Amino acid sequence: MLDLARQYAHMKEEIDAAITRCLEHQRWIFGPEVGELEDRMSSYLGIANCIGTSSGTEALVLALRALAIVRRDEEYWSRESLVITTAFTFTATGDAILRSGATPLFVDIDPVSFNLDPVAVRSAIDEHGEKVVGIMPVHLYGQGADMDAIMSIADERGLFVVEDVAQAFGAEAGGRRLGAVGTAGAFSFFPSKNLGGFGDGGMLSTNDSTIADVVRMLIKHGGRDKYNVDHIGYNARLDTLQAAVLLVRLVYIDEFNSKRRAIAARYSDALASVSGVTTPAFNEGSSHVFHQYTLRVSNRDSLQAALKERGVSSMVYYPHPLHKMKVFGTGRSIVPAGGLPESERAATEVLSLPMEPLQDEATTETVICALRDSVA
Ligand SMILES: Cc1ncc(COP(=O)(O)O)c(C=O)c1O
Repeated sequence: MLDLARQYAHMKEEIDAAITRCLEHQRWIFGPEVGELEDRMSSYLGIANCIGTSSGTEALVLALRALAIVRRDEEYWSRESLVITTAFTFTATGDAILRSGATPLFVDIDPVSFNLDPVAVRSAIDEHGEKVVGIMPVHLYGQGADMDAIMSIADERGLFVVEDVAQAFGAEAGGRRLGAVGTAGAFSFFPSKNLGGFGDGGMLSTNDSTIADVVRMLIKHGGRDKYNVDHIGYNARLDTLQAAVLLVRLVYIDEFNSKRRAIAARYSDALASVSGVTTPAFNEGSSHVFHQYTLRVSNRDSLQAALKERGVSSMVYYPHPLHKMKVFGTGRSIVPAGGLPESERAATEVLSLPMEPLQDEATTETVICALRDSVA
């Protein structure tokens, strides 16, 4: 699906030099690379504050915890506080809500974009009223959720918006980088992400300096002075070594994202007319960075097996919507009375094809031929 060794070879000299600099200065915690990366990301995203974190999951938790502290003067949200999100996402999105003390209120997705359906968001708010404290859209597969609609609902109701930007580094909506639109954004630098490190890492973005201030405390045990703390904190800093690697990789992000778009365009061109296959649609006015190139297909499981026989890997993101998982059961989450039919249908129909920015044309054509042969 992804060739990380090829990506490393592409930028080996710069990465080796960056790691060597760390070996020489030996400042492993909050070394100079961390601050430099935060500054570079702030200007890249067009946002006042970026704060390195130990993972994308922790960035989500930190955003929600900081909001409870700033908006409620409480360390955690209460179980009565509802955060609207999608069930068609990675576990970490919903898990972060549980870990912040709040309850996930799952609403259905738009079947075309696979992202939160703003109409469903509005009806959930109408049903649950003041208990809803915020919205957590996920920019799934690298495409922005409908942020214009989500932000106008949030502004009307005084709700916070935490963007899960784990899969969409560099994508834009309405001329703004994702992660710079909501109250806060959470990025992941997991190695397979568009901007991936050599281990776990993440970043929180926000224009709100009070939230930024609290997050800076929470990542280092909960205080400005770690020997005299104010809040229930974490050890959730971004490593110097990861920051050094990410500084190099950041230089390549626009080039790699446009290579992803070119591969996606070729796939869509070749596969749009194949019967039983729906190629991804993307919104005008928002740039899709194709973290995944995801088809909707009939007979998904047999198609995946046929591709495997032809030596082509494919993946299912995600086979189980969150509301079907044990961890979100037994009163830990809320689902609308009509259920989440689109999320459940997507889980049985999606299939992601190999998406490696440095993938050569021959590989792309092999995937296309294998898919056409497998469907036939
Ligand atoms: C949508 C989504 N949210 C959150 C995360 C969590 O990020 P991390 O793995 O860096 O904790 C990921 C990726 O792993 C993700 O894809």
